Amino acid sequence: MFKQFLLILAVAGAGLAASENDFIDIPFKRLKTSAERIESHGYPAESHFVETEDGYVLNMFRIPHSPKLNNGQQQRPVVFIQHGLFSCSDCFLLNGPDDALAYNFADKGYDVWLGNARGNLYSRNNTKINIKHPNFWAFSWHEIGAYDLPAMIDYILELTGESALHYVGHSQGCTTFFVMASFRPEYNAKIKTAHMLAPPIFMGNVTEGTVVALAPYVGSPGLGAELLQNQVFLPWNEVVQRVLDTACSNDPYLLSYCKTLALMWGGGEGNLNVTLLPQVAETHPAGISTNQGIHFIQSYVSNQFRRYDWGPKKNMAKYGSVEPPAYDLTQITAEVYLYAGPADGSANLKDIARLPQYLPNHKIFEIEDESWGHLDFIFALKVKEVINDKVIMISETYDWLNKV
Ligand SMILES: *[C@@H]1O[C@H](CO)[C@@H](O)[C@H](O)[C@H]1NC(C)=O
Ligand SMILES: *[C@@H]1O[C@H](CO)[C@@H](O)[C@H](O)[C@H]1NC(C)=O
Ligand SMILES: *[C@@H]1O[C@H](CO)[C@@H](O)[C@H](O)[C@H]1NC(C)=O
Repeated sequence: MFKQFLLILAVAGAGLAASENDFIDIPFKRLKTSAERIESHGYPAESHFVETEDGYVLNMFRIPHSPKLNNGQQQRPVVFIQHGLFSCSDCFLLNGPDDALAYNFADKGYDVWLGNARGNLYSRNNTKINIKHPNFWAFSWHEIGAYDLPAMIDYILELTGESALHYVGHSQGCTTFFVMASFRPEYNAKIKTAHMLAPPIFMGNVTEGTVVALAPYVGSPGLGAELLQNQVFLPWNEVVQRVLDTACSNDPYLLSYCKTLALMWGGGEGNLNVTLLPQVAETHPAGISTNQGIHFIQSYVSNQFRRYDWGPKKNMAKYGSVEPPAYDLTQITAEVYLYAGPADGSANLKDIARLPQYLPNHKIFEIEDESWGHLDFIFALKVKEVINDKVIMISETYDWLNKV
């Protein structure tokens, strides 16, 4: 999950260097929102704002029904889909109406909601803290799981009048689900089925290069972590995004960088839909706090799934213990489906194999394709047949069995 990001940075950097100091002259494209993207694909779209208990304003998008079914007036079960690190709601739309998870769900009669975590390009507002204040960025995936997901789920259930929904998360969207369902276990009752695509929970066996490389510097509390924590991962994030976006769409000179990126990104795995790249570049990296990355690297170093490690003194003040407390996974009573990719360096099979012993209600699927990697769960050419169809079939079966 980090490697791809560094590549994006390298390309953006190259783009900046290539145009020397006059990169500002590149005619930046205007950002297209998820709602506009949904409408351009021929589906109805809604944009909703939800405030968390600590003041963050999150932008959610909705595909209320499918034009193919004309089912706007019928009762529709709800699915809530949550993105991974550096990502946003757009990632579940980019494959287009035939292959993207959000549309596949809509076409099966679902009311589809796409979340956006605090700090990403859609959710950069707070009613209590100014975005320029360092406190705005003092969060990790703990807060996304403990506050953002509950706020979004409550909002959806209240608006739709449903009592529970299906949850699908990719990568960090799984980590945050595990936080919510263990730290605020009352939310298990609001989940019909939970689909964890590439879940980084225990991370001791991660082979992903950036995590391993950064571990000595930020994996344990100390100077490295102190210098880096509580800030936006890239202050110039918007410029990076616009440069990259522009590079991947207009300028013939910069386009070569975009293509190089596509090749590197594929990592030789060959599963990714490379024609997606220009669109991925429009909305990624979508923005994170450095603490989210540091917290993942702490998971790798500690080989445990636990709260953010602030160092003994601050841990004592915050948690009442020298070590950060572990999340109690036995609290996760919801129906959990774990999807593991054999070639996934961020959510390793060996680490995922440690989860079932704690989860009272789970099923684990190992993807048969030996080359299935971390991003293949959303961007592979075969994502519909390998992932989406299965997730939807399980959700439909649940709804059919629990029909009143
Ligand atoms: C932030 O959210 C508040 C409350 O929803 C809203 O009044 C304000 O206009 C928003 N600010 C920005 C910059 O979007
Ligand atoms: C790797 O996976 C194995 C098997 O699940 C587990 O016992 C071990 O703790 C994990 N972490 C490391 C660092 O080996
Ligand atoms: C690959 O991406 C393109 C561009 O978004 C899309 O039109 C196409 O349907 C995708 N193919 C698959 C199999 O997902």
